[in-house]
Amino acid sequence: MFSGLGLGSAALLGWGFNSFNILGRENYYLQGNFAPVKEIITEDRLEVVGNIPKDLSGLYLRNGPNPMSKPNIKKYHWFGGEGMLHGVRLDGGKAVWYRNRPVGGNNANTHVISHAKKIYAIVEAGGSPVEIDQELNSLTEEPFYGTLKTGFTAHTKLDPKSQELHGITYNFPRGTYEAHHVVVGKDGRINRADLLPLSSGTMLHECAITENYALVFDLSITFSFLKLGTGYFPFSWNNDHQARIGLLNRKTNDGVIKWFSIDPCYFFHTVNAYEDERGNVIVDAMKYQKLFDEDWNGPFTEFPPHLTRWSLNLSTGNASEQQLDDLPAEFPRMHPDLNGKVNRYGYSLGVGSGQKPDFGRIIKFHTRRKSKK
Ligand SMILES: [Fe+2]
Repeated sequence: MFSGLGLGSAALLGWGFNSFNILGRENYYLQGNFAPVKEIITEDRLEVVGNIPKDLSGLYLRNGPNPMSKPNIKKYHWFGGEGMLHGVRLDGGKAVWYRNRPVGGNNANTHVISHAKKIYAIVEAGGSPVEIDQELNSLTEEPFYGTLKTGFTAHTKLDPKSQELHGITYNFPRGTYEAHHVVVGKDGRINRADLLPLSSGTMLHECAITENYALVFDLSITFSFLKLGTGYFPFSWNNDHQARIGLLNRKTNDGVIKWFSIDPCYFFHTVNAYEDERGNVIVDAMKYQKLFDEDWNGPFTEFPPHLTRWSLNLSTGNASEQQLDDLPAEFPRMHPDLNGKVNRYGYSLGVGSGQKPDFGRIIKFHTRRKSKK
C-alpha cells in the first residue's frame, strides 16, 4: 500500500550508505533524517534540557513513514514506508516518557490526529485509519466506531465552530477511483460521506474549508498504471491534466463542484483558506511547480515549494495566482481555531534551497502583508 506525505521520522539511527534511484539520483529518503528507525524504544528516564512549562501537559505524537523491512533502494518512495509513531508524555514540567511504536495493520503512515477523545493514525488512498491508545498501541482498523465506509485522507480540517472534521478522501475499491467529502461529527462518528463527481485519479492529499465551502484540489499529480505496474510509487506528474480548485457548498451540500482552472502545479499542504471581504475564496498553500516527474522517490529535488496564494473570484469564475514568498518552505501550520477564517500568521519548516532536503529553520509568515520574520 502506498501512502501520503509525512514528515519522515526524526531519525535516532542513521544508515550510512549512499543510494541511487532510476536516474542516478541519490535516494535521499533513506538517508540522514529520513533513515529508518530500527529500534523500538520505551524510555522513562528522560533528561530535560531547559524547562518545560508546568501547565504544558499531554501527549505529543507524530507519525511518519519508516521502512522497517529492507526497501528497494531504487524504487523506494518516501510515502511508502511503514508507519512509525513517536510519542512524548509531558506532565507537570516533566517529560514522563518517550516511546516509539510501529502502526499496526494497513500502513497508516502519514499523520496522527486526535478527535472526539480518540487518536487515529491516518493515510490517504484507501488505507483505513488505525485507532491508537494513549501508549501508542494500535487498537483497531474500524475507526470512528465502525462508521467509515470510504477511504480517508492524510490531513483533515476541523471546523472550530461545529467541531466537525472534514476530509476530501479517495480510494481505489475494485480498481475504480472514488473520491468523497467525508465529515466526522463532534461525536466521533461519520456524519456524511458524499461521493464527488471526480474520476481523474488525482492525488488528494488534503482539503481546506471556509465558512461556506469545502475545497477540492484536483491538481497535476494523477494515478499512473505504468508506475504501479513497474513497482514504483503509482502517482506521477501529469501535464495533460487540467489543474483546478473546486468549491463544494457546505451549506447546501448539493453535490455540485464549482471549478476554477489554475496553472499546472501541485501542493500537498495549505496554510489556510478563507473568504475575503469581497466574497472571493483565498487559498494559501506550498506550491510545487513540478514534482514526481523526474524524481520517483520523493518531492524535494525538482522544484522547491513556495508559499503561494490563489484568489478565486466567484463572480467571474477566474482564479489568479501570486507567490507570496521566495523562501522554500513546507509543512505549514497555523492556529487550528482559525481554520476557514482570515489568519494573519502561518508557520512552516524551511526546506533549504539545495536539492537535498534540509529542514534547518522554522519560518513565521505574516500572510496579510508580504513579509516574514
Ligand atoms: Fe502531508
